[in-house]
Amino acid sequence: MTKIIAITNQKGGVGKTTTSVNLSSALAYMGHKVLLVDIDPQANATQGLGVDRTTLETTIYDALTRNIPFSEIIIDTNVPGLSIVPANIDLAGVEIELSQVKTGREQRLKKAMEGIKDRFDYILIDCPPALGLLNTNALTASDSVLIPVQCEYYALEGLTQLLNTILLTQSVFNEKLTIEGVLLTMLDSRTNLGVEVSQEVRKYFKEKVYDAVIPRNIKLSEAPSEGLNIFDYDAQSEGAKSYARLAKEVVKRNG
Ligand SMILES: Nc1ncnc2c1ncn2[C@@H]1O[C@H](COP(=O)(O)OP(=O)(O)OP(=O)(O)O)[C@@H](O)[C@H]1O
Ligand SMILES: [Mg+2]
Repeated sequence: MTKIIAITNQKGGVGKTTTSVNLSSALAYMGHKVLLVDIDPQANATQGLGVDRTTLETTIYDALTRNIPFSEIIIDTNVPGLSIVPANIDLAGVEIELSQVKTGREQRLKKAMEGIKDRFDYILIDCPPALGLLNTNALTASDSVLIPVQCEYYALEGLTQLLNTILLTQSVFNEKLTIEGVLLTMLDSRTNLGVEVSQEVRKYFKEKVYDAVIPRNIKLSEAPSEGLNIFDYDAQSEGAKSYARLAKEVVKRNG
């Protein structure tokens, strides 16, 4: 069974892409067949995995606007077992293009994935920091959502809006959508604030919050500029260890 997980939070810079890249890499290194779908016009996940965005002939844009099947878009990454559906800046126009479409515009991604879904154990979708049509396409195509929450002031702000969007998607487009888990990111355990915020998030989301917590770790912010995941950049770093723990927990929760 393929598990499709959207990594989402409309708040910017909370660790969605860092989590998408490193969780998908960790799962692949554990021996799973993994696909990372980049549905963010910033294309940070595409770049973070070392794909040159300027040489791409087809991207997710073509799947969403011209019904080009994923089989023609998927490319292998340097990580064995990890493939990617890349994005580039073209995607920025999709929200407006799709808003003209009358029916089925929320199901474009789901349709595009149908033919290739069974090739993978896990499909992760790196969402943009907005609750627009791209995000709705991701939630409609997914089994569950993984929500990264940055351990900073205002962390919980906007989560109500996100949860409402999830409920709305459930009722209109995707009954089976669940919350996969909540991930605490960029924790600086030397500060009271980080610890307080993580306690507050645990109080609210209870057992949905992963035991694995991602610390603030400079290596995690350096790796993308080399086009590397954290395991290839610095396998001994705290960042690598924490994402490896997360991957184990994700696998465990999925039996
Ligand atoms: N645990 C961490 N420790 C240190 N830096 C981190 C960590 N996680 C992410 N970063 C850095 O913080 C910035 C934001 O992270 P990231 O791009 O993953 O967030 P995002 O939610 O995908 O952002 P956006 O909303 O723009 O898509 C990046 O520069 C990233 O390298
Ligand atoms: Mg991102």
